Amino acid sequence: MRVLVAGASGAIGREVVALLRARGDTVRALVHRRRPAGALGEGVELRAADATRPEALRGVCEGVDAVVSCLGAPVAMSLGARASYLAVDAPANAALLDEALRANASRFIYVSLHVEPAYAHTAYVRAHELVVDRLRRADTLTGTVIRPTGLYSAMADFLGLARRGFAPLVGDGQARTNPVHERDVAAACVEALGGGPGDVELGGPEVLTRRQIVELAFAALGKRPRLVRLSPWLMRTMGTLLWPLQPRLGELMHFFAAVAATSALAPAHGSMRLSEYFAERVAARS
Ligand SMILES: NC(=O)c1ccc[n+]([C@@H]2O[C@H](COP(=O)([O-])OP(=O)(O)OC[C@H]3O[C@@H](n4cnc5c(N)ncnc54)[C@H](OP(=O)(O)O)[C@@H]3O)[C@@H](O)[C@H]2O)c1
Repeated sequence: MRVLVAGASGAIGREVVALLRARGDTVRALVHRRRPAGALGEGVELRAADATRPEALRGVCEGVDAVVSCLGAPVAMSLGARASYLAVDAPANAALLDEALRANASRFIYVSLHVEPAYAHTAYVRAHELVVDRLRRADTLTGTVIRPTGLYSAMADFLGLARRGFAPLVGDGQARTNPVHERDVAAACVEALGGGPGDVELGGPEVLTRRQIVELAFAALGKRPRLVRLSPWLMRTMGTLLWPLQPRLGELMHFFAAVAATSALAPAHGSMRLSEYFAERVAARS
């Protein structure tokens, strides 16, 4: 197949590119920055564009059979880029879908997320679901939505915090989830290229409380867990206060405040445990 991978320099995107190359597919990679950190592999055609500008995407899907979009603003608590999820994820993926339709691509695989009613109202989720709605209305291609729980790569942020000494715990930490390896999400994307329409819900092999996830990060570093309890109310209020200056961070705080108190479980995929993933990340750094 000839496949365009959008968000190819991201955690899931890189794994999708690797799996497609291993299958012998022809890969075009859409990246934001012309020089993505780390190579994507030989034979991959690179296209760099800011996908929020539709004119920058003109022709990007020409000649491809399918698009896999793992494109989205980073899920990181940083003060860097400010544009909200509603201003990045929704318009960028809508413009990409328009290009796929214009080029007569036959499939569009979109990575959204596993959604529970308690956090479905947040801007971060709505940005993804606007894309899903649009994909459902596209009648000349087959659309598949991949819905992972939290990625291992996102949980690895706790390693950085644990290294610095302490990590926040929003709420009582008793809500349960089964985070998933980005490689298993990528495998589901690639499998969907040969499957039908619909949603694919996926989580990882192990159900953990949110407190256990943070504690595993400390354990991977051989440190005693030092957690700072934050109430979801405080997190939400901080998000509201920050929103005018830092819309993306504000939206993310609203999402985290809601998700931290909610159990989010999805069908299990993959076999690597989060503790093994953390151990790998720690070993790779030393
Ligand atoms: N993190 C989680 O736990 C989680 C869980 C479920 C679903 N998701 C969703 O899954 C998707 C992929 O997640 P991920 O962790 O793989 O994301 P990621 O590592 O942050 O990668 C996102 C990709 O999108 C690209 N991108 C961002 N803005 C762009 C723009 N304006 N134009 C062109 N490219 C742009 C990035 O390029 P640059 O690197 O060059 O900026 C990067 O390649 C996201 O929509 C995310 O919300 C994440």
